[in-house]
Amino acid sequence: MARSISMEAAGLTLAFLILTFLTISAASSTNQIQILNAERRIDLSSHIVKVFLTLKVENVMTAPASEIVLAFPPAQADHLALVKAQAAIGKKKKKSYVHLDVNPTELPDAPNGTKYFSISLLNPLSLGETATLEVLYILTHSLKPFPAEISQSESQLVYFRDSALILSPYHVKQQTTFLKTPSTKVESFTRVEPTKFAGRELKYGPYEDRPPYSFSPVTVHLENNSPFAVVEELLREVEISHWGNIQITEHYKLVHAGARHKGVFSRVEYQSRPSFSGTSSFKHLLASLPPRVHSVYYRDDIGNISSSHLRSDYRKSELEIEPRYPLFGGWKATFVIGYGLPLEDFLFESPDGKRYLNFSFGCPLAETVVDKLTIKVVLPEGSKDPSAAVPFPVEQRLETKYSYLDVVGRTVLVLEKKNVVPEHITPFQVYYTFKPIFMLAEPLMLASVFFLFFVACLAYLHNDLSIRK
Ligand SMILES: *[C@@H]1O[C@H](CO)[C@@H](O)[C@H](O)[C@H]1NC(C)=O
Ligand SMILES: *[C@@H]1O[C@H](CO)[C@@H](O)[C@H](O)[C@H]1NC(C)=O
Ligand SMILES: *[C@@H]1O[C@H](CO)[C@@H](O)[C@H](O)[C@H]1NC(C)=O
Repeated sequence: MARSISMEAAGLTLAFLILTFLTISAASSTNQIQILNAERRIDLSSHIVKVFLTLKVENVMTAPASEIVLAFPPAQADHLALVKAQAAIGKKKKKSYVHLDVNPTELPDAPNGTKYFSISLLNPLSLGETATLEVLYILTHSLKPFPAEISQSESQLVYFRDSALILSPYHVKQQTTFLKTPSTKVESFTRVEPTKFAGRELKYGPYEDRPPYSFSPVTVHLENNSPFAVVEELLREVEISHWGNIQITEHYKLVHAGARHKGVFSRVEYQSRPSFSGTSSFKHLLASLPPRVHSVYYRDDIGNISSSHLRSDYRKSELEIEPRYPLFGGWKATFVIGYGLPLEDFLFESPDGKRYLNFSFGCPLAETVVDKLTIKVVLPEGSKDPSAAVPFPVEQRLETKYSYLDVVGRTVLVLEKKNVVPEHITPFQVYYTFKPIFMLAEPLMLASVFFLFFVACLAYLHNDLSIRK
């Protein structure tokens, strides 16, 4: 008994020691690094906010540093669609970039619910060593229309809120922030000296020697008439047929997420004064489809819409679609786009004998945010062990779909992702095994249906004859 208690005590002491060690190492990791120079460029020209951050970091302690932590205020973290990082290698002329892994992480005592991402360095930094990192992060739904309602003749104004100082767990020696605005029309902005506005650029800084977690809220009120095209839900169904075709069907629930339209819509005014009337509305959307598409259609609840134009070359096809009415703030449009693609452009065989689909993730419409994207890959009947390779986290599940002539049903691999932006348009793969004998399933079904029909006819005729006799 006494022995077991002492062992327990020893265990506790050990746990305590480990905990203390972890706390110390975590604490030291944030003052192990200092940022020598930070430059942030915030692009506000569309409704998707892109932030380019260049950080020159230095390890100021003897322990090697293998990661750099980025901090985001909670309000921003909720709208973060993507964080990417790369390291610059080599000097000016021979500069090249390597991709670095970025993962969500936690730090103890995070002030005000700060969220963190950790960038893994290729080679740990030793004492006094520096590295230059380039970070891209993208924010959606971060421009708030104000006024929230506008009439047809008004232009759209929005608020953008951030901090003049980059939120960081590290000491920042020098930093500057540039905001690129879509037009020269900026109603107001918070000043945190030195602050300068010229042309389409608002400059905050340079600021020297700011301690960790320095924060200085700023609000910019600016004009932004770019189309706030948001697809609340997009379902893309990719149906593979080993008989040579891939059929794509895309269901869109599109909304104009800008300032709500107020008053009545005048089509006469809209058409006669296009540069003054409904400047924040949009009429056309551009969908970028693979080359060699065929049988393209575009329809809504009412029926086919013929006002679409398809331009194709050997690299890509562009489909310009025009909803039945221009979209103003708060207005919605629900439609379906469908097209066929040659199988040999997207289906391949991997070295281990599996088949795989190599297709592109994301939404084909230009400059759109997708709140919820679902991709359903419908595999041919008889396919087994599907697995997806997507370069970012997505939710996955399996379903079964039955269509005519199916015996056991088709396996459907479902991929789901929230908050999707154009940067998510990257190739992904779906691997599966397939026994060629299943290719015969459909013809055999057809043949046996005909055969049964034939037998039935024969029996009928035979009966008929025998009665007459
Ligand atoms: C955290 O909250 C305090 C008080 O509520 C505030 O003064 C400070 O600026 C906040 N810091 C950040 C980084 O939001
Ligand atoms: C719509 O277009 C598709 C493809 O061109 C065609 O197959 C379909 O019959 C059309 N539907 C109607 C209702 O016109
Ligand atoms: C998928 O296709 C892209 C081009 O569309 C190509 O660069 C990539 O190597 C392909 N991936 C695989 C695994 O075949």
